[in-house]
Amino acid sequence: MIDTVEERLVDAAAAGGAEKQDYVRATFEQIAPRYDLLNHLLSFNVDRRWRRRALRALEWTRAPRGFYLDLCAGTLDVGAQLSAEPGFQGFVVGADFALAMLRAGKGKAPRTVLAPLAADAQRLPLPDAAMDGAIVAFGIRNVASLESALREVHRVLRPGARLVILEFTTPRRSLVRWGYQLYFHHVLPMIGGIVSGHRTAYRYLPRSVAHFPPEPELAARMSAAGFRDVTWESLTAGIAAVHVGIKGGAC
Ligand SMILES: C[S@@+](CC[C@H](N)C(=O)[O-])C[C@H]1O[C@@H](n2cnc3c(N)ncnc32)[C@H](O)[C@@H]1O
Repeated sequence: MIDTVEERLVDAAAAGGAEKQDYVRATFEQIAPRYDLLNHLLSFNVDRRWRRRALRALEWTRAPRGFYLDLCAGTLDVGAQLSAEPGFQGFVVGADFALAMLRAGKGKAPRTVLAPLAADAQRLPLPDAAMDGAIVAFGIRNVASLESALREVHRVLRPGARLVILEFTTPRRSLVRWGYQLYFHHVLPMIGGIVSGHRTAYRYLPRSVAHFPPEPELAARMSAAGFRDVTWESLTAGIAAVHVGIKGGAC
């Protein structure tokens, strides 16, 4: 059982309060050793398919020798997958502020193609217009300021480069939503709590999704940050979505 103080902290962090940044960083530092296992277990491996879909949306084949950013990279699954794509000859930077997550991803790809970077998504130590594309999988929801992160990614992208966001969403169809709520708010926190040994991480997850902007609003926020031609596609009955936006300028 978690106590009232923990309950309040989880709610405040999920709602984007001042506690969010510290709560999120500390939580991912602690759950890092079991993160991959729980990801695949709790999503019945569907997460792998979603990440592949998001990588296709990145259209890296337009610049196969380019520099790519895997933002909120966690254990580097997305970056490793991208660097291993047949024909990919570029370089991936996997940025995350939880060092234990980056460490847990060590060995997934050679350092010559994928480098971990300890960095806050809101203040990236990267030059302007340096990257040929960026992808964020299940990460942007966790950043304290969505606006700051979107503007920062926009800054580091070259004109014409794509930002792809893969994120959980709340299904709209009532039957799907009912099953989703049951699983996400009751079953997942129980299994996640037991396997990770963390008291609140998997309670925070469904609550943070509930507070995250729905697809049209996220698209509008991407546009407000300077991305053009923003589109999105719902995945698996609306449980997740892939948003794509292009930094204005050359194609
Ligand atoms: C749910 S994990 C996603 C990891 C990975 N992208 C994946 O697909 O499994 C979210 C990650 O976002 C990172 N994160 C959250 N806020 C961040 C920030 N402001 N700067 C950098 N990383 C952040 C966390 O440390 C965590 O590793």
